[in-house]
Amino acid sequence: MSRPAAGTLPRSVRITGWGHYAPERVLSNRDLEKLVDTSDEWIRTRTGIRERRMAAPHETTATLAAVAGKRAIAVAGLAADDIDLILVGTLTPDYWMPSTAALVKEAIGNSRAAAFDVMAACSGFVFAYATADAYIRSGAYRHVLVIGAELLTRFLDFTDRNTSILFGDGAGAVVVSASDEEGGGMAGMELTTDPDGAYMIWLPSGGSKSPSSAETIQRGEHYVRMEGKETYRYATKTLATSALKAIERAGWEPDEVALFIPHQANVRFIESVAKGLGLSMDKMFVNVERYGNTSAASVGIALAEAVDSGRVQIGDKIVMVAFGAGFTSGAAAVEWTADPAHGRRALDVVPVASVRAPLDWDSVDPMPARLMAVLEARDGPQVPLDDVVPGEPDHAKRKVPA
Ligand SMILES: CC(C)(COP(=O)(O)OP(=O)(O)OC[C@H]1O[C@@H](n2cnc3c(N)ncnc32)[C@H](O)[C@@H]1OP(=O)(O)O)[C@@H](O)C(=O)NCCC(=O)NCCS
Repeated sequence: MSRPAAGTLPRSVRITGWGHYAPERVLSNRDLEKLVDTSDEWIRTRTGIRERRMAAPHETTATLAAVAGKRAIAVAGLAADDIDLILVGTLTPDYWMPSTAALVKEAIGNSRAAAFDVMAACSGFVFAYATADAYIRSGAYRHVLVIGAELLTRFLDFTDRNTSILFGDGAGAVVVSASDEEGGGMAGMELTTDPDGAYMIWLPSGGSKSPSSAETIQRGEHYVRMEGKETYRYATKTLATSALKAIERAGWEPDEVALFIPHQANVRFIESVAKGLGLSMDKMFVNVERYGNTSAASVGIALAEAVDSGRVQIGDKIVMVAFGAGFTSGAAAVEWTADPAHGRRALDVVPVASVRAPLDWDSVDPMPARLMAVLEARDGPQVPLDDVVPGEPDHAKRKVPA
């Protein structure tokens, strides 16, 4: 662990790198029309979503996270081993254990960081960012890699129109660093958890209450379940309240904020946050139409796209705000300090990562069968990529001890 010398606590804690990764394959509303009783028009008007991304068979949450993470490290102008701590916000980990963060550490080629996951559902990125900020402020670490990553398409029931139309895959990341310069960075935050909503969005089986079995599978309890209306009602109120609390703690007024980076679940949520704060939609960054709800990845992807598209400049006051299962909510008021032009450094990062699996174990086909049938009819036959992972590191072939 790299500790600053005694008496050298950081003067500020700043975002120095950012990056995102979205799988190539697009899953459109029209594709979903072939699976559930829905329509492109219904999905667009009720949610604002036009399409979402879907990971390829060889990709996992950790590989998506590693690409976004490598991009953020490159943008920060750092090497992988400069990172002291890796935090991954996710509700779709590769495995129950080890943590996805541990797999990401190996995949990005870091030899020295501590690594753990942060489970706060769709608020995971903001919760992980707040955790990173606290660790750095305490003097424990200088550079923390924060990633939100999800592979939700493997946890959706493609016969359920309530959930299957909403979610998508992707990853967003930032590097948070100690700075010896005064001011800038996180200025105020708010994190909340309200277990009244514990069963409004949940995944019933696979935990200690109901371990996976033929019966839980038969009941379809390995898929995300959601009470859409209740969630909608709660989310719209909480997003605005959390954003406002973070703004107040920063000592700002809402109209001083240059850009809000809200969780991208539904464009109507975002419109209601704008309305609640008395602001126009120009102040809201929106990309839900292209990615759907990528849960913990959503704010990280949106932040990276906002900076790379010139919507955020040095000195701008921005607010990230998220809401998710739990119910959780998190908001961070941040004064932006990094040169947006550094975003171009991410272009040098090859968008490929792989994660070692034991040689004496093979995973099952991870692709949802109903969905693949529709996509294969659309795209033609697919090359099976499971055994042809590009860029497989040598240590992946390491012998597993007997
Ligand atoms: C899911 C959600 C889009 C549904 O929108 P809504 O306006 O509340 O729609 P309703 O549930 O009232 O349904 C309206 C009608 O559309 C139907 N419907 C529901 N899902 C549908 C779909 N995918 N396609 C077509 N029709 C659908 C309903 O059956 C209902 O029909 P009825 O009037 O004949 O009974 C909305 O509730 C929502 O966004 N909830 C929050 C979900 C979320 O973001 N969760 C993650 C938070 S991090």
